Amino acid sequence: MDAIECMKTRRSIRAFLDRPVPRTVVEDIVDCGRLAATAVNIQPWIFVAVEDARLREQIADITDYGKFIARAPVCIAVFCSNVKYFLEDGSAATQNLLNAARAHGLGSCWVAGHKKKYAEKVRDLLGVVPIIVMTAYGELDTAVAAASGDAKLVPSVASSPQGRRSTSRSRRT
Ligand SMILES: Cc1cc2nc3c(=O)[nH]c(=O)nc-3n(C[C@H](O)[C@H](O)[C@H](O)COP(=O)(O)O)c2cc1C
Repeated sequence: MDAIECMKTRRSIRAFLDRPVPRTVVEDIVDCGRLAATAVNIQPWIFVAVEDARLREQIADITDYGKFIARAPVCIAVFCSNVKYFLEDGSAATQNLLNAARAHGLGSCWVAGHKKKYAEKVRDLLGVVPIIVMTAYGELDTAVAAASGDAKLVPSVASSPQGRRSTSRSRRT
């Protein structure tokens, strides 16, 4: 898949198969994150990849709209130290993570962190500096996606009235 196709076909995925993501793939995704543009090349980020099911459940519980983290085989949290452009740096890295996941054939979803009241709780749970975002990864569960009627995820439902309705952008944080 080339970069243009990757960016144009990435979608937020919130239903995952219960199948582990190989460690090499997780490492490659993080590698793409750390190669993002960053103000004065300061690279202020820390990436925390969480595979442990109990810890993912705890993270999911803390979030408002990230409950699916409990069912995603991997959650990668992005933290940045408190430099001037930490939010831009962390966001650039996060988008790289999501695109890299897409290139590896995985679904992923950004879950709000920094502006949330729960940001500090996640930071304390994982023991690092200010939170930017959590992201969930796994293979798309097409059965769940088709049942939701989301035509962005499953083109075959696009022709049904339910499918057409669901193409509007969902209102999540
Ligand atoms: C800053 C930010 C915060 C987001 N927070 C959440 C979230 O907490 N939960 C969630 O399910 N999706 C979240 N999303 C994903 C958006 O809902 C999603 O990107 C948007 O609906 C567009 O869908 P698409 O990614 O499939 O194009 C967030 C996206 C961004 C950029």
